[in-house]
Amino acid sequence: MNVLVTGSNGQLGMEIRALSKGTRDHYIFTCLHETPGVETIPLDITNRAALDIVCESEKVDVILNCSAYNNVNRAEDDFQMADLVNRQGVENLAAAALARKAVLIHVSTDYVFDGRSHRPYREDDDAKPLNSYGATKLSGERAIISSGCKYFIFRTSWMYSSYRKNFLKTMLELLSKPGQVNVVCDQVGTPTLAGDLAGFIVGLISSRKIKKNFGLYHYSNEGLASWYDFACEIKRLFNLPGSVNPCLSSEFPQKAERPGYSVLDKELVKKTFGVQIPYWRDSLEAFRNSVIKD
Ligand SMILES: NC(=O)c1ccc[n+]([C@@H]2O[C@H](COP(=O)([O-])OP(=O)(O)OC[C@H]3O[C@@H](n4cnc5c(N)ncnc54)[C@H](OP(=O)(O)O)[C@@H]3O)[C@@H](O)[C@H]2O)c1
Repeated sequence: MNVLVTGSNGQLGMEIRALSKGTRDHYIFTCLHETPGVETIPLDITNRAALDIVCESEKVDVILNCSAYNNVNRAEDDFQMADLVNRQGVENLAAAALARKAVLIHVSTDYVFDGRSHRPYREDDDAKPLNSYGATKLSGERAIISSGCKYFIFRTSWMYSSYRKNFLKTMLELLSKPGQVNVVCDQVGTPTLAGDLAGFIVGLISSRKIKKNFGLYHYSNEGLASWYDFACEIKRLFNLPGSVNPCLSSEFPQKAERPGYSVLDKELVKKTFGVQIPYWRDSLEAFRNSVIKD
């Protein structure tokens, strides 16, 4: 199976790179911007012609989209760019997949929901994004669904890894010195280790389950936490000197509104693919153990 990966120098893309090494599938890694030391083919998903050329020349069977415009606050002022990547770019990928009869694997977000639920969100719950990022990601999902291509969409949440900028890395830095760090305690979701989602996707591709059960699924780690809980657990596990202070979203105004509750229900993905999903605290501890040897 020839697998074209877009946005492969992002968090998820880098984990896919690492995990794909042990498989029999042939992965082709593409990036918007080159990263020194990382082997890659340049590809902008908003360039349909360039995308078609790569898909044809590499005889692509699977397109795995790890690319996105992910800056949630900046998307409020830069809707056009966010829409270009998260909707138009994704529409291009769906059209390319349809033309080649390839399967498109796409990743979306818990931020398609408005956060007013009192139970974990299911795939068929109404999506009503509160911010531009969520709106453009939802448009991307809809473009795939209406394209007629074979697709998997996996909505995930609060992703972290050792790559790029993410909440875990910010907290490791801020809490590495004594002093108080204010973290919001009224937004609840689930931290997700990028390597867990990458492992699931790479496993799906090599298990050939990729040939059926197309559709929209939720995949995050198990359990739930506020950003404050997540920060406290980072402090505890990494034994950091800084203190975590709970605050409300209203005390920490941000350009983009975030859902107060965005826990995802994972029953469908677990039942369909027979997978076990790690609890978020266990994944954070496993991550810690992988970077710190006691
Ligand atoms: N991070 C989270 O907490 C989170 C939560 C929920 C859902 N998700 C979704 O999960 C997926 C993976 O997220 P991530 O955190 O791994 O993302 P990431 O680290 O921000 O990486 C995104 C990648 O997309 C690339 N990219 C941007 N515009 C592009 C374009 N026009 N053509 C090709 N590549 C382009 C970026 O390239 P450059 O860096 O070179 O610009 C970057 O390599 C995304 O769909 C995201 O929306 C993420």
